[in-house]
Amino acid sequence: MGARTATIGLSLGADICWPICYETLLEQLDLDLNLESDRVKVACERVTIEPFSLRQPVKYDVVIDRLTHWYSTSREWIKKAILLDDLYVYNNPWSLQSNEKHTSYAAMMALGLPVPDTWMLPPKAYDLTDDLEVTLKRYARLFSLDDIGDKIGYPFFMKPYHGGGWKGVSKIGSAADLHKAYDASGTEIMNLQAAILPHDWFVRTIGLGPQIRQVNYDPSAPLHDRYRLDIDFLSEDDQSLLEDMALTINAFFGWDFNSCEALRRDGVWHPIDFANACPDSQITSLHYHFPWLIKANLRWSIFCAATKRKMRRNMDWAPFYAVVEQDMPYRERLRAYAMIARERFETERFHDFCHTHLGHLDELAYNFFGSDRMRDAIRQKVTTLFPDHEIDEFTELFWSRVQRWRQQEGATCLSS
Ligand SMILES: Nc1ncnc2c1ncn2[C@@H]1O[C@H](COP(=O)(O)OP(=O)(O)OP(=O)(O)O)[C@@H](O)[C@H]1O
Ligand SMILES: [Mg+2]
Repeated sequence: MGARTATIGLSLGADICWPICYETLLEQLDLDLNLESDRVKVACERVTIEPFSLRQPVKYDVVIDRLTHWYSTSREWIKKAILLDDLYVYNNPWSLQSNEKHTSYAAMMALGLPVPDTWMLPPKAYDLTDDLEVTLKRYARLFSLDDIGDKIGYPFFMKPYHGGGWKGVSKIGSAADLHKAYDASGTEIMNLQAAILPHDWFVRTIGLGPQIRQVNYDPSAPLHDRYRLDIDFLSEDDQSLLEDMALTINAFFGWDFNSCEALRRDGVWHPIDFANACPDSQITSLHYHFPWLIKANLRWSIFCAATKRKMRRNMDWAPFYAVVEQDMPYRERLRAYAMIARERFETERFHDFCHTHLGHLDELAYNFFGSDRMRDAIRQKVTTLFPDHEIDEFTELFWSRVQRWRQQEGATCLSS
């Protein structure tokens, strides 16, 4: 029997709280797994930024990446490591780089998901480049914004086609709003999207591998209150549909860790924002739901590292399009996509793995989330975001929500 250590790299930016929790719990798990012909220990370390030779091997089996959607050196290091060193990384970097929010709308429309009607506009302004003038003179057609506004119907939303943390998103209530917002959009390429208003539910579905959590979301609340504390607030049918939807999206694009925003109107769930690979993982936004995320992250990363899960280097979309061809009713079709997704995420094998090897995580997590170390990790994060006079108050608020999780969910895990 061979002995090896599976090493997980944490590729981090401004993150503070979740890596502390992840590292502490991984150490406490103290894994020494019997896997087929191997004895496997699991360790983690933080990835540093340095010059590298393309032929230089990497020491990681898995990288949890929180950086490469904006830090290109790390992204290129990760891409070379997938190609040359068999690295597994959360979220396929080529997919992340090329499948913008706009593309994600198109793809899910192709699969028949009820994405609201969406348009794209050429930008209002350009940075001057050599061929720009001649190209626009020859081919850019004058258009009437008013006509497009009428076709979509007011109100609708204008938002940058690549997404990005609410920047540049505006609700357009009239032709005058539309002109004003377009004039202000500059060189940004914008989507216009029919509004799902009013809606009775706004849910964020977080996916980590095959693990799914639905969070009631209130976009109008201050940041620390947007994730609501409700659990079991949806019917089983709604839960299962949203789970199938999120798994489909995540597997389609090769995103291990992503969130999908969907709004329900007249009983129909409309996905409106689901290109959020590597979503917010901060205690200050997730609070009550944070322990779920840490546990899900540990499980999936340990599973991928210990079993040497293979990175899917290419997107293989053919099986999804083959389902489209079958012309089934929507709910059945979504089930069929989700079946492909569950297979891609090795759902059954993953659950068996957790059952066999990670049974002690629940108790460790229950104790850790009630510890001084946890309280201190919260305080460290709060200190970077809140003014001095609010540090005590907000540390206490997030701490109390984590304690609420322990009572409502952590303790239940222990007795089940
Ligand atoms: N089609 C829509 N119908 C109703 N509300 C919408 C729609 N599109 C956007 N919104 C509202 O605008 C907010 C921001 O839009 P969206 O989530 O698409 O942008 P974003 O910049 O990607 O935000 P995020 O930080 O969540 O990734 C949404 O949370 C929602 O409140
Ligand atoms: Mg959003």
